[in-house]
Amino acid sequence: MALFHWQQRFLSGFQEIDEHHIHLVGLLNTAYDDFRDSVPRERLDALFLELIDYATYHFAAEERLMKESGYPAHEAHDQQHRQFATRVTEMHRDYLAGKPVFLEVLSFLKGWLESHIVKSDRDLATFLNTVTH
Ligand SMILES: [Fe+2]
Repeated sequence: MALFHWQQRFLSGFQEIDEHHIHLVGLLNTAYDDFRDSVPRERLDALFLELIDYATYHFAAEERLMKESGYPAHEAHDQQHRQFATRVTEMHRDYLAGKPVFLEVLSFLKGWLESHIVKSDRDLATFLNTVTH
């Protein structure tokens, strides 16, 4: 059973952002399934890094869109991304130190994404659609 059930309500309406979110949620669900299937630690290590890499790539894309469009709430939105990155980096450190935090990480990612997508990213998507169409 998937950790994160993707639903229509998570669509922001801006295609590039939605494609990234769908990919990110897919990675999250794969990580959850693999954890439950007790895959080797190396596999979880790789998935953790892939999640971090993809989130970093996605944030950079949103930051580029905000900059290019002159998004008024750019700074506040960036700050949410930075706080998220700081928290995930801390959790990754704990994970590498051998602490059993993998599920906690996935649950944090799920909760953060759900609330960030439906508010901050939707606001951004609405603005982008207004200025680019
Ligand atoms: Fe965002």
